[in-house]
Amino acid sequence: MLRSTFRHLLARRILVFFFVLTALIAVSTPYLARAHDSPNVPKREDAWLSYPRLDAQSAARYASLDGGVFGRGNSKLIDTAMQEVGIALWASLGRRAGLEQLPHAMNIDIRVVGKKGMPSPAPPSFAVPENFPDDSYILRTVPNGDGATVQVGGANDRGALYGAFAIARKIAMGEPIDHLDEIHIPYAKIRWTNEWDNLDGSIERGYGGRSIFFEGGAVRQDLSRVRNYARLLASVGINGCAINNVNADPKVLSSEFIPQLARVAAIFREYGIQLGVSVNFASPKEIGGLDTFDPLDPKVIDWWAKKADEIYAVIPDFGGFVLKADSEDRPGPATYHRTAVDGANSLARALKPHGGVLFYRGFVYNHHLDWHDMKADRARAAYDIFHPLDGQFDSNVILQIKNGPIDFQVREPASPLFGAMTKTNQAIELQITQEYLGQGRHVVFLPPMWKQTLDFDMQADGPGTPVKAIVTGKVFPSTRGGFVGVSNVGLDSTWLGNYLSAANLYGFGRLAWDPNLSARQIADEWTRLTFGNNPDVVNVVVGLQTSSWKEYEDYTGPLGAGTLTAIAGDHYEPSVESSERNGWGQWHRADANGIGIDRTVKTGTGYSGQYSPSVAALFESLATTPDELLLFFHHVPYTYTLHSGRTVIQHIYDSHYDGATRAEQNAVRWKTLNGKMDAGIYSAILGRLEYQAGAAELWRDAICDWFYKMSGIPDAQGNVGNHPGRVAAAKMTLDGYTPVNVTPWEDATDGKAMECDRTAGACTAEWKFNGAPGIYTINVRYFDQNDGVASFTLKLNGKQIGAWEASDTLPSKQIDGSSSTRYQLAGTTLNPGDAIQITGTPNGGDKAALDYIEIVPAAQQ
Ligand code: GCU
Repeated sequence: MLRSTFRHLLARRILVFFFVLTALIAVSTPYLARAHDSPNVPKREDAWLSYPRLDAQSAARYASLDGGVFGRGNSKLIDTAMQEVGIALWASLGRRAGLEQLPHAMNIDIRVVGKKGMPSPAPPSFAVPENFPDDSYILRTVPNGDGATVQVGGANDRGALYGAFAIARKIAMGEPIDHLDEIHIPYAKIRWTNEWDNLDGSIERGYGGRSIFFEGGAVRQDLSRVRNYARLLASVGINGCAINNVNADPKVLSSEFIPQLARVAAIFREYGIQLGVSVNFASPKEIGGLDTFDPLDPKVIDWWAKKADEIYAVIPDFGGFVLKADSEDRPGPATYHRTAVDGANSLARALKPHGGVLFYRGFVYNHHLDWHDMKADRARAAYDIFHPLDGQFDSNVILQIKNGPIDFQVREPASPLFGAMTKTNQAIELQITQEYLGQGRHVVFLPPMWKQTLDFDMQADGPGTPVKAIVTGKVFPSTRGGFVGVSNVGLDSTWLGNYLSAANLYGFGRLAWDPNLSARQIADEWTRLTFGNNPDVVNVVVGLQTSSWKEYEDYTGPLGAGTLTAIAGDHYEPSVESSERNGWGQWHRADANGIGIDRTVKTGTGYSGQYSPSVAALFESLATTPDELLLFFHHVPYTYTLHSGRTVIQHIYDSHYDGATRAEQNAVRWKTLNGKMDAGIYSAILGRLEYQAGAAELWRDAICDWFYKMSGIPDAQGNVGNHPGRVAAAKMTLDGYTPVNVTPWEDATDGKAMECDRTAGACTAEWKFNGAPGIYTINVRYFDQNDGVASFTLKLNGKQIGAWEASDTLPSKQIDGSSSTRYQLAGTTLNPGDAIQITGTPNGGDKAALDYIEIVPAAQQ
């Protein structure tokens, strides 16, 4: 019986859909017409599904195709697949697709393209092999009469949808489809995103606006952006999404809320995405009326089982729960002296009868560590907690492990836990939202960073066991495993706060599908799909994206020391000591003599011993630890010489100057694209890059000044502390401006800014230029607090030459590193004695504060 059911299922895997060369009367669906009425003005929220219209030469490649699209079968996913091919044909080629469903059982034929006059539809010409995993697909161009047919066969309907997106992608990129013979099998079964959305509509660590899912404590009425998002996710093969914050509100499981979740699930279903939710471990008590949430209490076990039944009654394809427990004050099994196994299995068993999974987060640590204790080490926590439990988790538990042992820093080694859980399902958690990486204001393309971890050989079972293979069950037996990306998209049309950041979401999906893709290839695809195939655009965007992580690292936290940002604040601005002398354990232990944490077994915290012996040996030794992770594993004097030949301190100085210079050049390079893309998008990105260049300069100066002050070692290149043309506002002739201390001190000149405390009227700062006559760029560093919109003017000898408003939405209402920003005016002719005057008019809480002006000869800009 079982065998015949199995055969029956396999029979579905024959051919899911195909494209035939044919002439059909176009039947456009309302959605198609609506989505792409003006294909040359892509809807911004379409992101990489914008498919800009191909130029005539590329379009000619598809001249013999017409728009017949046939779906075989009657699942909603097949409808979606047909529509998606139709959308791409219309957007890329301006062809209206004719969509037609064939009534046949099981199989789907979608005839998308063909030479005119061919009979329709072609019979399926190949079978997807029986052993192909779910979601796989085959693309093949096969003869059909005297023409040819592009056929897409999916192992299941979802595979067919992915095949449709793959064809759309090929056409949008102008790639030939007349000789296709490709097999695509997902590398990972689990390809999920997590969204840290709160039910009130805010998003924890979200930088792209408010929630697309929730508002005011309920699921939004208008879920159109959820549909847009589902399209984006499906187009890169994402098959699951947990939509609420891991710091979960128990209310999400209430009986009033579950039907609302079902509305989201219904949209996701059309795109093959399973809905998941993050749950609060104390829910049985918080919303269930019980007096306990002890996972071993029969009442609690029963509560979870009934809750799962209630969910599956309305969401039969519900994916499962994500659980953050015993971490950062979240409730967990430890409340009742139970283990993570007790906690995980109790929830997993409720989900199991329905086929659901429980993602148990490995991000568990004590955030009240004793910073005096040189053996205390947050990095050790996950391994120490979970390794002894290996083998005890149920088969539908997946341990969700952040890429590194700390918390999404700019550079971390791979978590040792990946190599240590040989009998437990695992998923790697990567962060798409740029929490510690510029929060969407800085361009930081993350696939190169992710690939470093994914490709890292844990040598868990001898050489050849990279993280990507371990988490997908290719090294140790595992029933399911894969990739989870913390995405946190919002209602902003850019999704993540910056047009270029959408490449991270795209890249996450592509790597979850195939981690062997190169970062450059991913950037190239994303750029073409988003902006079209203009080689100048592709060149600049791909170059900028692929070098951006290294640049960001260069001007922020060096050599594995952590990002050096305000870890006790909003995780954005430079704040070197924020991580020190507190219990959070993100220490770097920099002092007057040296920097880094000794994590060796021999003299340190013992962390390096959590890796397999060969990897442990690599990190245990100063001689073999790679430079970029040196300070993660070792405490060294500033004068220690790296493999690069430079001392640590000189590396800190030089890398910060290099990184900031490259950020400045990126903004200049971007300007070569003026007129080569949508003007609004061009300007929005330029604005971000110019801001980033200014922010990189702030980072450079803050970090270099701090280390110079701390070490007392001068910069051999003479850059640090030497700012020709810079005049602190404090040194200018001031009217109304008064000094205010900036915390941390390194985020402003001498730790001070000048604020205008007048309740009515403006303040001024004036200075007489005393340099050589010439053409200059004038930079004004000021503070754009987010609780008011101050305005400024710049005058030369009494004549206004510039004016601006402090109207950006930077993440601070303080005068500090987060609000510090730069106004730039190029091409000003200056002569000795010229009076440069800045007038600042405060507004609301924004005090029109100033740090300095800097006059830079045009030739150096
Ligand atoms: C980071 C982040 C938190 C988040 C936590 C987590 O610490 O700053 O906002 O809740 O990670 O991953 O659980």
